[in-house]
Amino acid sequence: MKQRILVWDLPTRIFHWTLALSFAGAYLTAESERWRDIHVLLGYTLAGLIAFRLIWGFTGTRYARFAEFVRGPSAITRYLKSLADGRPEHHVGHNPAGAVFVVLLLLLGIASGVSGWMVLEDSGGEWLEEVHEFFSNAMLAVVAVHILGVIVSSRLHGENLTLAMLTGRKQGEAGQAIPSPRPLAGLFLLAGLLGFWGWSVYDAGTHAETARSSLFGSAGPQEKDEDDD
Ligand code: HEM
Repeated sequence: MKQRILVWDLPTRIFHWTLALSFAGAYLTAESERWRDIHVLLGYTLAGLIAFRLIWGFTGTRYARFAEFVRGPSAITRYLKSLADGRPEHHVGHNPAGAVFVVLLLLLGIASGVSGWMVLEDSGGEWLEEVHEFFSNAMLAVVAVHILGVIVSSRLHGENLTLAMLTGRKQGEAGQAIPSPRPLAGLFLLAGLLGFWGWSVYDAGTHAETARSSLFGSAGPQEKDEDDD
């Protein structure tokens, strides 16, 4: 009998919502010199979150594991066909089509993070900034399709998937539930995030008088009050 069961562990939920916020914040602060440090901080946060998710994809609970949701073309085609036939296959974790966007978001997050870091280190010219911008815009486009997919999927399956990503609970059989939300790993992730932000603020403060912070690259304090609007 179907009931509400625990599907998304705490680290996956914390990862998701902090990733969404970091991406939104980094994207919105990308064009302004005044918000440059915040942009860099959120970029590092995004990269760190993805690094965590890559590890969690092999060590996390059942539905967080790549082996559970990364499928080949035949599973994706079968799922899409079931949608077209009006009898959508129900998947307790990510459905095969949604999983394609999850993988794309992780790959584009890595590409945006690495290219952003290279821009910060001045290891390329104008073209590298273009590449960084391209990856970030591609990520925005995939996020838009991801959100649309979540809305359509929620309607088709009669289940609020956004709420499920908050509570961790979805429709399923009792035997399909994960045994624990893994609260300690969730706290570890939160502590890591808070520790990193705290250290960044401290680092920026101690280097306020010099032209180079260890984290934010070569932005001098003289640049910080300028806005390039
Ligand atoms: C209001 C905005 C958003 C909503 C409502 C939303 C909703 C969701 C939902 C419901 C899922 C689970 C899908 C399923 O049941 O299979 C999910 C997964 C995911 N979303 Fe979003 N999302 C949003 C924004 C974003 C953004 C901005 C990003 C990336 C920058 C993102 C990246 C991901 C990733 C990577 C997963 C897979 C989670 C995992 O397995 O770790 N989402 N999202």
